Amino acid sequence: MSENAIGIFDSGLGGLTAVKELIKVLPHESIVYFGDTARVPYGTRSRKTIIRYAEQDTDFLLSKGVKMIIAACGTVSSVAVNLNDDLPVPFTGVVIPTAEAAVKATKNGRIGVIGTSATVNSGSYKKEILRQRDDITVFQQDCPLFVSLVENSFISKDDDIVKLVVERYLSPLKAEGIDTLILGCTHFPIISEAISAYLGDNVTLIDSGRETALYAAQILKENDLLSDSEKPGECHYYVSDTVEDFRRTAEIFLGKSVGDEVSHINLEHAKI
Ligand code: DGL
Repeated sequence: MSENAIGIFDSGLGGLTAVKELIKVLPHESIVYFGDTARVPYGTRSRKTIIRYAEQDTDFLLSKGVKMIIAACGTVSSVAVNLNDDLPVPFTGVVIPTAEAAVKATKNGRIGVIGTSATVNSGSYKKEILRQRDDITVFQQDCPLFVSLVENSFISKDDDIVKLVVERYLSPLKAEGIDTLILGCTHFPIISEAISAYLGDNVTLIDSGRETALYAAQILKENDLLSDSEKPGECHYYVSDTVEDFRRTAEIFLGKSVGDEVSHINLEHAKI
């Protein structure tokens, strides 16, 4: 048992997709979230930079005494693959649990993967899917503008800009007849209604944040690290840029106010 918080990080708002699910499945757990909103997006940066940012993010969470770390970021999970080598606490990224869920879901063996450019270039999801089942055909598409839409609160399925960008990126995958689509960047489930409206009900969307939260709950259980508190867990959110934008989108997405629970932190100057 451990009453310490679970640490979750992402380049920005995307990791909230994992937070939302964790609160549902483990309501008594406390969460410390870090969103690197001053340096988002990670997905267009070099491997070296992504690794450096990811190390700073995990160091920050460790300084908060977390009992587990979740890299709720497709880009970090795809690029900083050795991140967990020296960590003193259990760790998971998003690629393995998400690929597993997609392999289970597909009926026609045609899976689409969307993510940031860094994620798609790494081929991480494709490799993991083929490792699990080599008869599947995988179609990849990077969708870097989705990250900016989400970070700027363009998330409604009725917004013309959102609709246009969704159609532009997803029409090639639709034409390939995929029946399953991995939302391989944790920002993307925030616009899943728009994605679903375009692809139709026959395409199953796999939410990397959700699948990873379920997987993390399993890891905590296996390591006997679940809290035995009867009280609802507390969440604290740290962001590296201003708190207002984060607050607004976080509230829409999580369906509750995150008012006082958000603080600013500058990792470049923080004494970790
Ligand atoms: N949410 C992140 C991901 O899953 C990062 C998006 C970005 O920073 O480019 O890839």
